[in-house]
Amino acid sequence: MIDRDTENEQYFEQILDNVEEAIHVVDCDGVTVYYNRAAAEIDGWKAADVIGKHVLQVYPSLTLETSSMMRVLATGQPIVNQQQTIVNRTGRTFTLHYSTFPLYRKGVLVGACDMARDITKIKELAERVTELQAELLDAKTPGRRRAKAQETGCSARYTFNDIVGTHDLIVKLKILGQRVAGTSSPVLVLGETGSGKELVVQAIHNASARKNGPFIAQNCAAFPVTLLESILFGTVKGSFTGAEDRPGLFELADGGTLFLDEINSMPLELQSKLLRVLQDGTLRRIGDSRLRQVDTRVIACSNVDPEEAVRRKELRVDLYYRLNVVSLRVPSLRERKSDIPALTHHFVGLYNNRLGCAVTRVSDEVYRAFQSHPWPGNVRELQHSIEHAMNVVSGKVIELEHLPDGLRQYGEDRNRPRPEPDRSAPRRTLPEILKTIERSSLAEALEECDGNISRAAAYLGIPRQTIQYKIKIYSLLDRVKANAEKEGGSR
Ligand SMILES: Nc1ncnc2c1ncn2[C@@H]1O[C@H](COP(=O)(O)OP(=O)(O)OP(=O)(O)O)[C@@H](O)[C@H]1O
Ligand SMILES: [Mg+2]
Repeated sequence: MIDRDTENEQYFEQILDNVEEAIHVVDCDGVTVYYNRAAAEIDGWKAADVIGKHVLQVYPSLTLETSSMMRVLATGQPIVNQQQTIVNRTGRTFTLHYSTFPLYRKGVLVGACDMARDITKIKELAERVTELQAELLDAKTPGRRRAKAQETGCSARYTFNDIVGTHDLIVKLKILGQRVAGTSSPVLVLGETGSGKELVVQAIHNASARKNGPFIAQNCAAFPVTLLESILFGTVKGSFTGAEDRPGLFELADGGTLFLDEINSMPLELQSKLLRVLQDGTLRRIGDSRLRQVDTRVIACSNVDPEEAVRRKELRVDLYYRLNVVSLRVPSLRERKSDIPALTHHFVGLYNNRLGCAVTRVSDEVYRAFQSHPWPGNVRELQHSIEHAMNVVSGKVIELEHLPDGLRQYGEDRNRPRPEPDRSAPRRTLPEILKTIERSSLAEALEECDGNISRAAAYLGIPRQTIQYKIKIYSLLDRVKANAEKEGGSR
């Protein structure tokens, strides 16, 4: 009969064989004890060839100093978020994003686990985008450069005239935005999703003396840290990443504006490097000893409260103060419902052109629905609702029945206006909500399993190492019973 732990082990092996990350585990001497399918695909080995082999035999080009697993075994400390370009035994080149963790059993170091993600394709795409931007900026005259930027969609399209609305908050925003456009200080643009932050950023660029210079946008949540670093700061040939001589977006946006979207998602280690450029206008490409001067204006956006992000240690406080020298808040649509008719008129005109419709107006019921709806998706949600309606309408008037389901109810039942969300309650982000659920599931599993870690891990269907790590970060150690642990055993 197969015992429970062996059975679990088999499940975990099947699961680990199907994850995208390459996983390689060695014991405390550096001898391979586990090697999954993704690792075998990257290295060009078969698992059977590698199990039982020392890590330096598997990778003869590595040494005690350059092998992350051997370094982790020597120091007991994890190495996280690194990038490396390797040539495997069949001659294929891969760029990997990896972390290596020490494995402990009852406080004793028993091995190391290397987890790597193949980012070759993302890196190639990111480099191609950078190359296209570089080609674009090769155009000699400002007029030609602007024309080329428009051809490739890399320019800022919007001006302050494109920002529809006459509510006080919008008028003040436009006045402040025009003023800010006259300087080169960094700017932080805040506001809920879909409220029009990018519109404001582009309008500032186009109203500034940099308008004929480049406008480059980069979302900070889009890439792993190492790749984002090389995209922003560039690389020199021969650095450890196997990189080429390549300027980063800071250099490419020289004389123009670099728009960093979702700045709160930028990894902390990169935030300090960003702060340096903001402070003295100099940067060092990865692997370079030379400092380069750039004249790039940074405009950053955040769709979470930056002070909350600072409290959660997602945003460095010194970077926040540097960016917050000038901050603009784009109001939510809820705060400026008097702009809804003008925005509606604007979007009806836009989609009449795009979809070849001939809509002349929207009905009173539709306006009533628009006035009662809380618009969590802001102007973008209004735009999409009108686009939806104009796809289904056949006549000249948009009626309630043409609106998306969620909106229609606001116009149908006049006596039951939807309560607005309680804005005095602190807003929680999705990751925060998920963490609360994860913590309570862990607590419940530990209680169900009398504080036995192995059983609780099996109960939740996760590896024992994972549950141990999570117990620590969620401060649930008091729910683990020492004697219960002994009964359960471990892998
Ligand atoms: N005042 C406005 N006038 C006209 N169109 C607007 C206005 N505000 C927003 N829009 C339109 O709404 C859509 C969303 O705007 P934008 O992308 O600037 O929002 P955002 O705040 O950057 O959103 P996210 O946080 O999701 O990135 C765009 O299509 C934009 O053109
Ligand atoms: Mg945006």
